[in-house]
Amino acid sequence: MIDGVSGGSERSDSGGRPVHRVLSFVRRSGRLDARLRRARENYGSRYLLDASAGAGSLDVRPGFSLGQSDVVRLWGSDRPLVVEIGTGQGENVVAAAQRNPETNFLAVEVYDPGVAHTMLLAGKSGLDNLRIAQVNATDLMAAIAPGTVAEVWTFFPDPWPKMRHHKRRIVQPAFADAVRGSLGEGGVWRLATDIEDYALHVHEVMDGRGDFLNQGTVTVSLPVEHVGKGNAQEAASLPHADFVESERFAGRVLTNFERKGLRSGRVIHDFTYRAV
Ligand SMILES: C[S@@+](CC[C@H](N)C(=O)[O-])C[C@H]1O[C@@H](n2cnc3c(N)ncnc32)[C@H](O)[C@@H]1O
Repeated sequence: MIDGVSGGSERSDSGGRPVHRVLSFVRRSGRLDARLRRARENYGSRYLLDASAGAGSLDVRPGFSLGQSDVVRLWGSDRPLVVEIGTGQGENVVAAAQRNPETNFLAVEVYDPGVAHTMLLAGKSGLDNLRIAQVNATDLMAAIAPGTVAEVWTFFPDPWPKMRHHKRRIVQPAFADAVRGSLGEGGVWRLATDIEDYALHVHEVMDGRGDFLNQGTVTVSLPVEHVGKGNAQEAASLPHADFVESERFAGRVLTNFERKGLRSGRVIHDFTYRAV
């Protein structure tokens, strides 16, 4: 338990001692309505990868790995693979898979209704270039063989706005290591957030790395100190510095989540990091 928010997970180390892990998501009861239950029954076997450690577990099963030969076996082709992490309702990944039949897509999401809704959208349009992994993305990315992935997308990760929860943000140095490990040289990690403080967090984690190059072309001024939830307006009076970000990624459809952010007057920050 971190500061009153549950959502860590207990695992054992090799000596059987419990290891507490900080998670980037909260396990919510994911009750499915009849429509989503049917989608899961009809399309589960077609779209869901057998990646989880057991029924209801979001851990990756021991021994699971994803390399080029697995992609050919599971997608039926060796087309380039794009992995979207935290796909929510699946609006974006399904639209992208429809628009790009020559690309394979993997949706990674932990939330039951989101996973079932993604299956519903994919099944209705008969997609054959999409698979879904319902597991913790931090484990999954670490199980992908080097160079298997062409692009990783992380759009609007949970903001964890309170200062004491910043360590739960999914973008962390160890996660960036795992993403880099999955990409071939020249591979790309695209990110977007509508939270200014998260934008600063992305720059802090990513800009100093020697294995990723910020491909941005847009100069953005951001406060260089973090602010917590409820204090975003104080950021304006903090010292600022210039950072480089990207134009809005043309390959992203406007999800409900992004639309809500825009309606609330928030600015979208887009990032493109190339693996070097
Ligand atoms: C704020 S939502 C954004 C969803 C979507 N990208 C969009 O723009 O509508 C973030 C999503 O990331 C998922 N998520 C957070 N941490 C995750 C993890 N470690 N593995 C897989 N999914 C995760 C959450 O369940 C949630 O659906």
